[in-house]
Amino acid sequence: MFSSWLGGVVTDPALMQIPLDDHLVHRGHGVFDTCTLASGRLYRLGIHIERLLRSAALARIDHPWTKDELIEMVVETASTAAIRDGAVRYWMTVGPGGFSPSPRECPEACFYCIIFDPTPLGGEGADPMHTGVPEVTVLDTPMKPPLLATIKSNNYLLNVLTHMEAVDRGGTFGVLVDGEGYVAESCVLNAAFITSEGVLRTPPFDGILSGTTIRRVMDLASEKLTSEGLISSVSQAPVPADEVRGESISEMFLCGGDTHLYPVTSWDGTAVGTGTVGPVAQRLIELLDAEAFGGTGGEASDFIDVPYGD
Ligand SMILES: Cc1ncc(COP(=O)(O)O)c(C=O)c1O
Repeated sequence: MFSSWLGGVVTDPALMQIPLDDHLVHRGHGVFDTCTLASGRLYRLGIHIERLLRSAALARIDHPWTKDELIEMVVETASTAAIRDGAVRYWMTVGPGGFSPSPRECPEACFYCIIFDPTPLGGEGADPMHTGVPEVTVLDTPMKPPLLATIKSNNYLLNVLTHMEAVDRGGTFGVLVDGEGYVAESCVLNAAFITSEGVLRTPPFDGILSGTTIRRVMDLASEKLTSEGLISSVSQAPVPADEVRGESISEMFLCGGDTHLYPVTSWDGTAVGTGTVGPVAQRLIELLDAEAFGGTGGEASDFIDVPYGD
């Protein structure tokens, strides 16, 4: 873990600390983002840092860092800790200073970065990306207001409750549908559908998080899946839940975290398509995996080699 407050990296998890008076802890006044470290290369860190900077601006966090300086702190964390593979997560906060709601008492914004072994989402021992998951619409957990939903902030209580309610109802991550009946997103994943006309359709980012994975999925789908004949086109447009539920979609999937794509085999007890993992989801998993872990595809700027001292 790197902490700008301590000014260095610690590798003993017992020392992985954040001051309790950092407003991140008691006010949720902080934002975060992630990326993937694979074979000593940071995948799409720049895109994630751009979103962190947008989140920080919306959360009104005053800080001294440029995009390059933030990237450098993440690179340094991997390099100093000599870690070559893992999930990377980092927070920008208004910093420590007291327990009031006002960030004025906080003299210095903080940046914390950790690299850890990710626990697979969707249940230990299971392989939900390859078997698919059952999903349900979440009915009792409210959606975040758009401002909060579009900031990747440290206020994830509703996301956690979305996931918990989904599990209670026999689903996995949960599907949020807005007051007008349009699909929004899942607890920490974006949603996409393949319509009966072969269109890959995903909701606009108005009141949900602008996912980096779904953005890459849309590009990969346009670049490759159309020419491979797996889909006809890509559309980012409102998705009425009632229209797509049941007969009118052949596939549905949820995605996030650079390489995680979960095919949905049933939604609210009704099979999606054939009720098995479909060819579009399968191909996208392959492409995302090859890019992040194999380095095949993507732009050169999507990869940052970490310099190690050995
Ligand atoms: C609420 C929410 N929606 C969507 C996503 C997917 O975003 P990404 O693809 O950038 O991981 C996340 C990721 O954590 C999220 O928290």
